[in-house]
Amino acid sequence: MNRENVLIPEADLARQRGFEEKIRAMFADRQAHPAACVDTFGCQQNVADGQKLMGMLRDCGFTFTEDPKEADLVILNTCAVREHAEDRVFGNLGALTHTKKENPEQVICLCGCMAQEQRVSERIRRSYPHVNLVFGPHALWKFPELLWQVYEGRKRVFSVDDEHGTIAEGIPVVREKGVKAWVSIMYGCNNFCSYCIVPYVRGRERSRDPQCVLEEVRALVDAGYKDITLLGQNVNSYGNDLNIGYDFADLLADIDQIPGEYLIRFMSSHPKDATKKLFDTMARCSHVARQLHLPFQSGNDRVLREMNRRYTRAQYLELIRYAKSVMPGLVLTSDVIIGFPGETEAEAMDTVSLVEEVGFDALFTFIYSPRPGTKAAEMPDPATRQEKQKWFDKLLAVQNEMSAKLHAAYIGKTVRVLVDGESDDPAYPLSSRTEGNRLVRLTGDKALIGQFLDVKITASNTWALYGEPV
Ligand code: SAM
Ligand code: SF4
Ligand code: F3S
Repeated sequence: MNRENVLIPEADLARQRGFEEKIRAMFADRQAHPAACVDTFGCQQNVADGQKLMGMLRDCGFTFTEDPKEADLVILNTCAVREHAEDRVFGNLGALTHTKKENPEQVICLCGCMAQEQRVSERIRRSYPHVNLVFGPHALWKFPELLWQVYEGRKRVFSVDDEHGTIAEGIPVVREKGVKAWVSIMYGCNNFCSYCIVPYVRGRERSRDPQCVLEEVRALVDAGYKDITLLGQNVNSYGNDLNIGYDFADLLADIDQIPGEYLIRFMSSHPKDATKKLFDTMARCSHVARQLHLPFQSGNDRVLREMNRRYTRAQYLELIRYAKSVMPGLVLTSDVIIGFPGETEAEAMDTVSLVEEVGFDALFTFIYSPRPGTKAAEMPDPATRQEKQKWFDKLLAVQNEMSAKLHAAYIGKTVRVLVDGESDDPAYPLSSRTEGNRLVRLTGDKALIGQFLDVKITASNTWALYGEPV
């Protein structure tokens, strides 16, 4: 699609600010002080969208609460990636019938990736009459207008049309206080991995202009954020749609020029588009964390082909070898799916052997969940849930042993961490992250939050390191 049709014109965004004004004035007239509860599920991309929803709500005059009982407006910002995620949302929606009974004026909204699925929006239309507003990720930028329609028309509003997808710059954001911030650098996905719903609900890949990303990161650094994660379903294809000969490595190199004490991370990377140029750039840039989340999904070539991943086990291993060679001490994490349709035990064990071979610092492991509308959901899937669970447990056992070993190797070492908040362990009241994003629970005073520190690692387990400032 033409770039002019991708960027939402400023006049349309100004119109949305007009709706924010109207909503604010309506509440002022009623002398009301409305509160909103925004509940976000799913990935960081969705968290970033939730922060934009909160930005627009703040400008409409809302304050925020975590308790749906206290809220005048409840938003479920949903994820469609696995069935379990969807079931939870339907459960939550059911529970909201009670809060609405207590407060019939309460407005209930369903948005995010689930809302973009036709199957879901029809079910809401039919069976969840207490839901007032349903809109998918494509309509996020016009949330003020949709909300105004609900308040003004007192009718149900659905905005769930399938679209290529757009980019709206300058939407207000309410960020978490602290040191961490998320920056979406691109939206959508073109890869159509055969198991995945994301391309269907998030539209085609579109990259933000580099200048907009650079300005946002600069403003975050100036505001004191120290741990900034660049987001995209596949950041390695950043820039492909800009046609200006500028890629993700170029963006990292330009961000690295921004002065200040901060770390840049990014996720996710698709192995098919990971380049030596990217790893060389990471190695060269002092602000870019030596950490790589590179999902491999399966260690078996037949399964990778069926998944439409477009790389082989050998190509993946070569990427890791190269990345480690230019970044000694690189912290590696990945995503894995066990039980893809037709996967055999031997093929699942190829995944386990890849995990043993690479030695990931941590893994995000999933049992395959069929997503209606995707290609894999149509494939024969003869293995039972129990078999898949057995393969999954084997994978977890191998990874947990590996994580524990890798963590134990830190004991006695001094590492640099960023203290990012309080922990729930009274013996180690602070929580911090290494450059590689390993969790370190720390002794020390709350005043250290927000600082980079050298700490000595004194203990470890599968999930965390423990240490004291030196
Ligand atoms: N775009 C990123 C990528 O390709 O790595 C992340 C996509 S998805 C939001 C995060 C992870 O969920 C995927 O890497 C995959 O392991 C898992 N996932 C996606 N679809 C799934 C499904 N149908 N069943 C189980 N896990 C799934
Ligand atoms: Fe889904 Fe594949 Fe796109 Fe990731 S790259 S979002 S797994 S289709
Ligand atoms: Fe993220 Fe879930 Fe959507 S993982 S992109 S919120 S389907």
